[in-house]
Amino acid sequence: MKTALTYQNVSARYRQEDRPVIRGISLDIVPEERVALLGLNGSGKTTLLYSAVGLVPFDGVISVCDIPLSRATERQVRDSIGFLFGIPDDQILFPSVIDDVSFTLERRGVSRDEARQKVRPVMEMLGIENLASRSPHRLSHGQMQRVALAGALAANPPLLLLDEPSAALDPVGKEELAELLASLDAAMFIATHDIDFVRRVCNRFIVLANGVVAEDITDPERIARYWFDRKK
Ligand SMILES: Nc1ncnc2c1ncn2[C@@H]1O[C@H](COP(=O)(O)OP(=O)(O)OP(=O)(O)O)[C@@H](O)[C@H]1O
Ligand SMILES: [Mg+2]
Repeated sequence: MKTALTYQNVSARYRQEDRPVIRGISLDIVPEERVALLGLNGSGKTTLLYSAVGLVPFDGVISVCDIPLSRATERQVRDSIGFLFGIPDDQILFPSVIDDVSFTLERRGVSRDEARQKVRPVMEMLGIENLASRSPHRLSHGQMQRVALAGALAANPPLLLLDEPSAALDPVGKEELAELLASLDAAMFIATHDIDFVRRVCNRFIVLANGVVAEDITDPERIARYWFDRKK
């Protein structure tokens, strides 16, 4: 695999008559690279992530694990991605936590019993093993975010697209998630406002402003100072 995720001159709009929300984005994320996606509210972070799973129409080329995304490849592309929605409610489908997390594997052809076994370790790592039989819709926001994360990580995909993964987590949960993500081999593109959190996970910061890439920072010194410099 040459790249985990590539955007070539990508513009995306929600409706044909709208102005593009992201414009002329070109960037490569290589296998195992962990990249933060920063920018103000409305700058286009979620849209950029959505476009990679075919949820927003776009012009240009998006490739996932070297496969160009199209109608024909959409299914295959989605199977290489663990996706976390910013609003966990949007991706929780089943009446019990264990069924919800296992479904990621079941849709890839794993039997129900085997899937339930296989998701145990990731549920333990995210501290939700004791919630297995609960209804996801009756959990706290942070617990729900953990369930959605377990679903995204369960199949061990080569690319993780995570929209504000730490938003609802308590400080201990953030610390544990940062450690967990840093221990994985997957490439990651993490949209967030939580600079302290992503600094522990990512070694590259991409900053969007009004739908274009304003900065692409790999220098560890500049990453370390990122928020501090911003506030001056
Ligand atoms: N479903 C939609 N239909 C039309 N426009 C949308 C839709 N979702 C988002 N937009 C617009 O697209 C632009 C980018 O939104 P997006 O959600 O990608 O921003 P973001 O960087 O993720 O912001 P935040 O930090 O608030 O999550 C905004 O101007 C927003 O109003
Ligand atoms: Mg967003």
